[in-house]
Amino acid sequence: MPRRSKFIIAANRLPAHRVGDGRASRWVRSPGGLVSAMAPVLAKHTGCWIGWDGAVGRASHANVLDGLTLAPVGLTRGQVDAFYSGFCNGTLWPLYHDAIVTPQFHRAWWEYYRDVNARFAAAILRRAARRAMVWIHDYHLQLVPALLRQTRPDLRIGFFLHIPFPPEELFAWLPWRAAILRGLLGADLVAFQTEASSQNFSRAARRWTNGEGTDREVKIDSHTAHVRPIPISIDAATMESLAREPEVIEMARLIREQLGNRRMILGVDRMDYTKGIHDRLMAFEELLSERRLSVDDTVYVQIAVPSREESLGYREVRREVEERVGRINGQFSEPGSVAVHYFRRSLSHRELAAYYLAADVMLVTPLRDGMNLVAKEYVACRHDLGGVLVLSEFAGAAWELRRALLVNPRDIEAMKAVIIQALRMPTRERRMRMSILRVQVKRHDVFEWADVFLEELGA
Ligand code: F6P
Repeated sequence: MPRRSKFIIAANRLPAHRVGDGRASRWVRSPGGLVSAMAPVLAKHTGCWIGWDGAVGRASHANVLDGLTLAPVGLTRGQVDAFYSGFCNGTLWPLYHDAIVTPQFHRAWWEYYRDVNARFAAAILRRAARRAMVWIHDYHLQLVPALLRQTRPDLRIGFFLHIPFPPEELFAWLPWRAAILRGLLGADLVAFQTEASSQNFSRAARRWTNGEGTDREVKIDSHTAHVRPIPISIDAATMESLAREPEVIEMARLIREQLGNRRMILGVDRMDYTKGIHDRLMAFEELLSERRLSVDDTVYVQIAVPSREESLGYREVRREVEERVGRINGQFSEPGSVAVHYFRRSLSHRELAAYYLAADVMLVTPLRDGMNLVAKEYVACRHDLGGVLVLSEFAGAAWELRRALLVNPRDIEAMKAVIIQALRMPTRERRMRMSILRVQVKRHDVFEWADVFLEELGA
């Protein structure tokens, strides 16, 4: 029997991954704000993190890394295909992101989703001490709260959705909508990135289940689920101190020099059809062809992190983006002045901080996004008050970062105009906007987010 914990986090992925083969392999902590925010909480409460280790087949053994107990859940090939690539990323992900690609509804995938959620619930139950606090993350595990409540009403259960919760009319497509809502309503606290998602959820819950109540509280079967918007953030202080390191500042200078000291526009995204990379490239291409921009003095750098290549729509978005980059470079690049620099790989936080520091304009223009932490990272890094953030109205971050230049990413003319506006922005206005953005990001960091969540949960 594993050691019982007073505080448990469950997420599809563990906050660490294995490097190396066989007996020589070891765990390495994954970078990211969520891990940093949770580490002190887990340490204080002798906590444990339950999640998939990313491997196919038998789970590796539980392990302690930097004081963090990691309890891996294993997924078989069939579960990876039907649960992760299938139901999570082929049904829920597109449905929750405005059906940008058409969600697929397969009964077999749903069966796998139910099974894997039950496995996670069982793993939690094996480890949860009496009256433990359980914090469940994201769309992969929406059935877990109710599964826990059925057998262990003593637990305090919180759920946070990192992606948007769709409007009622879209959510209604889901053949298993009532089961998912009932699953979530098993939590004491169900939290979302924005007010809109929070309202969408409580309205759907009242419509498709026997739950009753308000936008903030849904009562079902003598249990009350509290519903709140609690927007996630980043570890702003760590990001800023990285960007203040002399080597990072020097790296930023070198990047600019290597790009010919041209004005630099930057995009940093997972390669995902929700991120609007292709539309952004179209806007840049049109500006070049209309001669409103020239490769002599402007360059666009796109960093695209490979993601979910086995899931629906991901190969297509990569092909579209790469074809567009090829087309733009074929037509506009000059010797020594490439129009678009495209990197398909992930960068370390240190390298990212250098790119953020080097960029005159940061384009964060997803078609729909739960929050978008890249926007906040950019702001945290700009201690020099340089740089302009162009932000999609459809990113959760737009609810907070009001002094960014907000844009509808489907409106290519508006995108073009905003890129020009950003490049030409007078220094005074740029500094003023960035200072206001920085106050917001520094004040509301990921530690505050975790505190608010736990306070609402009654920790
Ligand atoms: O934004 C949702 C999310 O699931 C994040 O939690 C995660 O970091 C990202 O998407 C990447 O997803 P995946 O775990 O499928 O690689």
